[in-house]
Amino acid sequence: MTQKRIVLIIGGGIAAYKCLDLIRRLGDRGIAVRAVLTRAAEQFVTPLSVGALSNQPVFTNLFDLDSEREIGHIRLSREADLIVVAPATADLIAKMAGGHADDLASTVLLATDKPVLVAPAMNPRMWLHPATRRNVAQLAADGIEVLAPAVGEMAESGEAGPGRLPEVPEIVSRIEAMLATTQRSRWTRNPVDAVSGGETSSSPADGTSGGTLSGRHVLITSGPTHEPIDPVRYIANRSSGKQGHAIAAAAARAGADVTLVSGPVAIGDPPGVKVVRVETASEMLEAVRAALPADVGVFAAAVADWRVETPGGQKMKKTASAATPRLTLVENPDILRTIASDRNVRPPLVVGFAAETENVITHARRKLKSKGADWIVANDVSPERGVMGGDRNTVHLVSAGGVESWPEMGKSEVAERIVERIAATLRERGAAAE
Ligand SMILES: Cc1cc2nc3c(=O)[nH]c(=O)nc-3n(C[C@H](O)[C@H](O)[C@H](O)COP(=O)(O)O)c2cc1C
Repeated sequence: MTQKRIVLIIGGGIAAYKCLDLIRRLGDRGIAVRAVLTRAAEQFVTPLSVGALSNQPVFTNLFDLDSEREIGHIRLSREADLIVVAPATADLIAKMAGGHADDLASTVLLATDKPVLVAPAMNPRMWLHPATRRNVAQLAADGIEVLAPAVGEMAESGEAGPGRLPEVPEIVSRIEAMLATTQRSRWTRNPVDAVSGGETSSSPADGTSGGTLSGRHVLITSGPTHEPIDPVRYIANRSSGKQGHAIAAAAARAGADVTLVSGPVAIGDPPGVKVVRVETASEMLEAVRAALPADVGVFAAAVADWRVETPGGQKMKKTASAATPRLTLVENPDILRTIASDRNVRPPLVVGFAAETENVITHARRKLKSKGADWIVANDVSPERGVMGGDRNTVHLVSAGGVESWPEMGKSEVAERIVERIAATLRERGAAAE
């Protein structure tokens, strides 16, 4: 087996010393590490100690003559199987989101055609700052995996919240999982491929290039959203993501180029699908916009209708004297309606989902009109039906043409039938246009 290689980009944060442990653990697993230090990182760890542990040359300077004779920054990124940024500073994340390339670290990150894993570490206020939220959402939309920072005490006295570097064993296990998976489709629409002549592949992982959705881009949202109350609490719902993920898997099997924008779920990624992970409704809308255009939009996510107006920057404390807190909620963006009503970006076929606990079909008909969707897939999610989190579903397909009620079946079967229906509709529309 060939040795796996990663480029580790070390940012200038107080947690930089933890990368020494990371390099050691990766070495124990037979993973070779080439490190790039930012100038700021050199204030926290020395190239000497990093090089001694990795047993590899350490890179710090974009204009290093020796390596630049061979365009070292391009080679560095291309010869690796994976790029890991740990600790990722707020500054590095901002540079990545903005596409900057003004030092070796950011240039390697912009020039790469390999998967990138980001392990952030910063003060909680920096992490929760709207600019960082925006930048993290942009990275997610660009197909870059960003680990959630750990929550706890910071190096600065009296500071606590989300922002600590994820635990090193967690970073190691994510690196191993990413090295074990070949996510070819992840890179198919990466602009780097277009300019560099790097790997391109528009067929899904199982090679179903002649499928009924071959050449189509299908965008699917799935799972719940989490709306923060404070750094440790959030408002959520019981959506498991099983139905949306099953549709993504079925569309990929039918040969589509699939982008799945997923809220936080406990199930695995469907094979052959580009997955963009988000937490909140606002992040989901941004990721959906970034993934467009698409031939089909399937909006299966259970997006929270409301979010807390001003989430606490610190964990809210229960004290004997303090009154019970009251949450002020504000409306979240309506992703289905926003996209379906925007003529500039609307996919030609828009499928919405309605999760109802009563008057399912009446509500779905109303939703079809008010949201501007072509179809609404309505399901009864009353607790006694066990749909949310379960493996079976009973759906009604509501369109301008009427209502079709399907018998109860597995969520994969529902997905197959929806995908068949999508393919047939696109085919009919294509034939009508000729
Ligand atoms: C003592 C000290 C600790 C710092 N810790 C962090 C940190 O944990 N995370 C962060 O984003 N920035 C931190 N900074 C700020 C960064 O070092 C600064 O933004 C720098 O420009 C980052 O450069 P880089 O992104 O090129 O590594 C720290 C600065 C100092 C002086």
